[in-house]
Amino acid sequence: MTSRRIGIIGAGLMGHGIAQAFAEAGHRVDVLEPDPVRRAAVTDRIRGNLVQQGRDAAAADRVHPCATMEEAAAEADVVIESVPEDPDLKRRVFLAMEAVAPPGALLASNTSAIPITRIIEPLRNKTRAMGTHWWNPPHLIPLVEVVQTPDTADEAIAAMMALLASVGKTPVHVRKDLPGFIGNRLQHALWREAIALVQNGVCDAETVDAVVKGSFGRRLAVLGPLENADLVGTDLTLAVHEQLLADLDRSAAPQPLLRDLVAAGRLGMKTGAGFRTWTPAQQAETRERLAAHLGRPEDRGPG
Ligand SMILES: NC(=O)c1ccc[n+]([C@@H]2O[C@H](COP(=O)([O-])OP(=O)(O)OC[C@H]3O[C@@H](n4cnc5c(N)ncnc54)[C@H](O)[C@@H]3O)[C@@H](O)[C@H]2O)c1
Repeated sequence: MTSRRIGIIGAGLMGHGIAQAFAEAGHRVDVLEPDPVRRAAVTDRIRGNLVQQGRDAAAADRVHPCATMEEAAAEADVVIESVPEDPDLKRRVFLAMEAVAPPGALLASNTSAIPITRIIEPLRNKTRAMGTHWWNPPHLIPLVEVVQTPDTADEAIAAMMALLASVGKTPVHVRKDLPGFIGNRLQHALWREAIALVQNGVCDAETVDAVVKGSFGRRLAVLGPLENADLVGTDLTLAVHEQLLADLDRSAAPQPLLRDLVAAGRLGMKTGAGFRTWTPAQQAETRERLAAHLGRPEDRGPG
């Protein structure tokens, strides 16, 4: 495979993992990070991941931290932004990417839920701009949603899908630019109902998590919801929906329980409590359990 130059804008949780995925496949990766501490740490952070995962740490040498857009994008074949989830910031970053990147470079956003059309609205040439929605941790989770807007050229989508497949990812084509694309729409439909169950006193947060992990969650990695519907029969699925759908939560805004938690400073593991309370040992155990599950050889990307 020809080595390409990949520009990554933002070396946070996602940006450094996306950089790792490309570097492990042999590409040169230039990572723009304005925070000097993060910028200085990015190569070691990736090297640490590689060592921890038993992979070739030499891939970290293909990652070059940068302080300017020129360094990161001027010679790039592909530029992916992964800056904080703020539409105005992302628009500004995209304009800078367009101004600096070569005319043939593909430009992509890793937004979780902002429509790509909104982000690329000010661009002169929108045909090469798209979404690439990676999942955390991006170097371990294979799927990437490649989001096409009405302006994105089919050839640009095909080129991005081919590149992602060549680095061991599983790209899927999202043909309409909806908020949340496919995965986050599905995930947050589930989270909305989960929060409603707790808010309505049906059960506590521990019970919601126990039900998901101990029942249908066990199947989800090997059996998608529509495969499952076919497995049990569309007739049974219809009968369940006739009984159930009218009763599910349909709130169009975040639930009061979620707003109350945030207002009270219960922000989750980072403050020691969210829906549940978290000792440092419980946090470490949860992170280790997740890493062990995602890091199994069959779940790995390239390398
Ligand atoms: N965290 C997740 O699980 C996840 C999953 C999928 C997608 N995303 C999306 O990925 C994007 C990044 O999320 P994250 O969790 O990595 O955030 P993060 O806060 O960990 O990282 C963002 C990085 O961007 C840098 N940054 C800020 N302004 C910048 C600028 N103008 N130019 C270059 N870099 C800049 C920050 O210093 C920071 O290092 C968001 O759009 C988020 O919604 C996140």
